[in-house]
Amino acid sequence: MLKTKWMFCLVLILALALVAVVGCDAPEEEVDEPDEPEEVEEPEEAVDDVVITVAAGAVGMELELTRDLAEMYMAENEGVTVEVLDTPDMVEDRLGLYLQFFEAGSSEVDVFQIDVIWPGDLSEHFIDLNQYGAAEVADDHFPAIIENNTVDGELVGIPWFTDAGLLYYRTDLLEKYDLDPPETWDDLEEAAQIIQDGERAENPDFWGFVWQGRAYEGLTCDALEWIASNDGGTIISPEGVITINNPNAIEIVDQAAGWVGTISPEGVTTMAEEESRAVWHAGNAAFMRNWPYAYATSQEEDSAVKDLFDVSPLPAGKAGSGAATLGGWQLAVSKYSENPEVAADVALFMASREGQKYRAVEGTFNPTIMDLYEDEEVLEAAPFFGSLYDVFINAVARPSTATAPQYAAVSELFYNAVYSVLLGEATAADAFEELELDLMDLTGFDAE
Ligand code: GLC
Repeated sequence: MLKTKWMFCLVLILALALVAVVGCDAPEEEVDEPDEPEEVEEPEEAVDDVVITVAAGAVGMELELTRDLAEMYMAENEGVTVEVLDTPDMVEDRLGLYLQFFEAGSSEVDVFQIDVIWPGDLSEHFIDLNQYGAAEVADDHFPAIIENNTVDGELVGIPWFTDAGLLYYRTDLLEKYDLDPPETWDDLEEAAQIIQDGERAENPDFWGFVWQGRAYEGLTCDALEWIASNDGGTIISPEGVITINNPNAIEIVDQAAGWVGTISPEGVTTMAEEESRAVWHAGNAAFMRNWPYAYATSQEEDSAVKDLFDVSPLPAGKAGSGAATLGGWQLAVSKYSENPEVAADVALFMASREGQKYRAVEGTFNPTIMDLYEDEEVLEAAPFFGSLYDVFINAVARPSTATAPQYAAVSELFYNAVYSVLLGEATAADAFEELELDLMDLTGFDAE
């Protein structure tokens, strides 16, 4: 879009310049008309406008809401055009795209929506937002996220929204089968099987539990939740010790592999967030693991589960309570931007109280500004922001800080190992023994 617009302006100017030159050359007598080129002025004004491009996500209502914020910014800031660039849903694909911009030192994108796991890996490409006004608002945000986004004393991303894995469940079906919301993974298995068996009579497409089982970052998130809820650690500890090869981690991943083809479709191993949400949204699942954004989409008019569901913390294993992986996204300004000051202003506006409140109310995206969790309108739209506040506060971080700048490679090894277990190609014991060695090679860290 941006390219097209610039190209258009460029072509327009060239054309007008050409007309002016040709006009000068052709009939001699017109050479005297000095005012002629003034006609060129108008389109030039548009060229003088600053165009800020924001590379943003498009999961659930994300893109639409980001576009709305761009409109709001433009309404207040004449002379600035904010373009929103739609980027791939899958974290790996989005990262791949971003890396292409960075490698080219491209100024095409000014503001990047970056994952909570990326500040360590990507910090060299971003400006320090503290130098552009973020220092004054940093205290409003969850301190842990500000800390996560601060690399060598520089704030490389302003927190935009935070995420934590939740269990979505059908209230109507729990009631129908006289079941309580599951507190443990065993409870979930049992309830999912009972509801699935019952519903299949009417609906052959019905499944007990959908989640994110394809080989990608989302599987790292889901599997970390299983493992942390079973007292199996966080793959690599914050101190840089490889902990993954332990009996509790092995046990729960083997258990999860047992869901594939029983309470979860075989195809769960191809599902990311949006694919699992589609099954749920159509009314074809009793339970779903997903992020908070799926709450707002599930309440949309076309949702088969509108008003028929609720959310709870994810089930517990041996740890006695469930664990939610910490997710979330920040806005970072590219070092290669030609207008870092304006870009930072756009980022700070989108991540401001106003911007976050809008996204919370419209799309149930969790604010990172703490006092919004006490805002009445926010709580009305997303009551679980209040009731599950502890889940958001205690979410478990992936080992991205300890392993930066190698986190993406660490996660890839991890999700591929888990994936091989889900496919039945390896036992978790074998997969994690090998993973431990691979992680030692990659990171140089010791194993527990
Ligand atoms: C969500 C989370 C993000 C995570 C991703 C995995 O977008 O916010 O942190 O990496 O899901 O698919």
